[in-house]
This record gives sequence, structure tokens and C-alpha cells, in this order.
Amino acid sequence: ILEDLDGVAEHAAKYIIKQINSFNPSAENHFVLGLPTGSTPLGAYKKLIEYYKAGEVSFKYVTTFNMDEYCEIPRDHPESYHSFMWNNLFKHIDIPAENVNLLDGNAEDLMAECDQYEEKILKAGGIDLFVGGVGVDGHLAFNEPGSSLVSRTRVKTLAKSTVDANKRFFNNDEVQVPKQALTVGVGTIMDARQVMILITGPHKAYALKMAVEEGVSHMWTLSALQQHKKVLFVVDEDATSEL
Ligand code: GLP
Repeated sequence: ILEDLDGVAEHAAKYIIKQINSFNPSAENHFVLGLPTGSTPLGAYKKLIEYYKAGEVSFKYVTTFNMDEYCEIPRDHPESYHSFMWNNLFKHIDIPAENVNLLDGNAEDLMAECDQYEEKILKAGGIDLFVGGVGVDGHLAFNEPGSSLVSRTRVKTLAKSTVDANKRFFNNDEVQVPKQALTVGVGTIMDARQVMILITGPHKAYALKMAVEEGVSHMWTLSALQQHKKVLFVVDEDATSEL
């Protein structure tokens, strides 16, 4: 538990760097990092860029897999997760473009796209550290309430609460918010060797409580992590107000 968003960002960035550096990745053996979007990880991404510029970490031998991507908007839409990741992280660090994996929400065959993504993760040797956030309704990636806790990468229809929460990025107009997305499954995240979840703000307090103090439930998909062997929640004080 850190005091505020800044503390969470600093802790998360340092943790990621420590994991990469102690793994000591090479051309033959990349560190595989799962990454989220959303406003919560933004501070951590800024700090990663600062530490990269200070020479404390290199992403040359890091392979990334993003958690999710919207359907229904083009890849170069300013709110696509593809744009988000390039603008807020990838273009500022030394990660080679071929190491970056993002789902294609416009693929002709969405199910094939999801299956191929799972195969790519397997081929990369699995995910060493999956970083995530949480939605106000407890969703992990876009695994909305009711998702199977053994789900794999697939197409999901967004919950009304998620469309409402995300309309701030789409001129506050819910009509413009995509209603479908591709997302890694809960099972995909559970397979990662380590998971780190960032949660900040009083609006996430109930989701945090349901995730850690109640039982494992597919209505609060973040709660699945209670059964993960190596998981770290990095949260601010506001997010703990319901605990
Ligand atoms: C979206 C993403 C989630 C993310 C959530 C929270 O729904 N698919 O992966 O955790 O937003 O976003 P924020 O950090 O902006 O609250």
C-alpha cells in the first residue's frame, strides 16, 4: 500500500525494472512482459521511460503482449490500445517493433486472431510478468463479470459499466465507445509466472475489496488471482478504503 498514485507508479516501474534486470535477458532468452492500458499504468510508463533514459534498463530483449484491444475502431484511432501503447511507452524506449504484440481488433477472423495470440505467447515461452489494472466492476483485462475463470483469449462484449467508465475517452459519448474487444482470458493471465496489479483511487475500493476479501468469483474476475502462486497488488491508500 503506497500513499498515492505517484507512489504506485514508482513502485511498479522499479519492480518491472528489477524483474527485467535480474532475469538478464539476451537475444536467445527474452523477458516476456504482459502490459495493460488505462489511466492507472500511465505514471508507471512515464517512470519506465525516465529510468530507460537514465540507462537503468533496456527493452531490447523484452517481448511484450498487451492484454486487450478494442474492436470496431481502426488501429490508428487515437484511443486504440495500439496508439495508447506506442504513444505512452513503446516509441520512447528501445524496444524493437517486432518484440511488441498487440491483438488486432480488426482482424478478418477474430477467433483465429485470438488463437494465434495464445500460440504466440506459448512460443515466446509464456509470460514472465503480467502487469494489470482493474475496472470498477472488477474486470481483469476485459474479462467482464461472468467470464469463465479458465477463459483464454477471445472476443468479449463490454459491460454497460465499462462502456460508461470508458466514454471519457470518446467525447463522453457512449455511442462512440466500442462495444466489443479482444482480451486475453483469465486463464491466460493465471498462466503468467508472476502477476502485478495496480489499483488507485476510491472508485476502485469496492473492486479491491471484492477481489481480496470475498471468495473467488467469476462475477469479480480479479478475484481469480487469489489462486495465483505469485501475485502482487500495488495500491494507493484511497483504494483500500473498503478493506
Ligand atoms: C480498461 C482495460 C483494463 C483496465 C481498465 C481500468 O477497461 N481493458 O485492462 O484495467 O480499463 O482503467 P483505468 O486504469 O483507466 O481505470
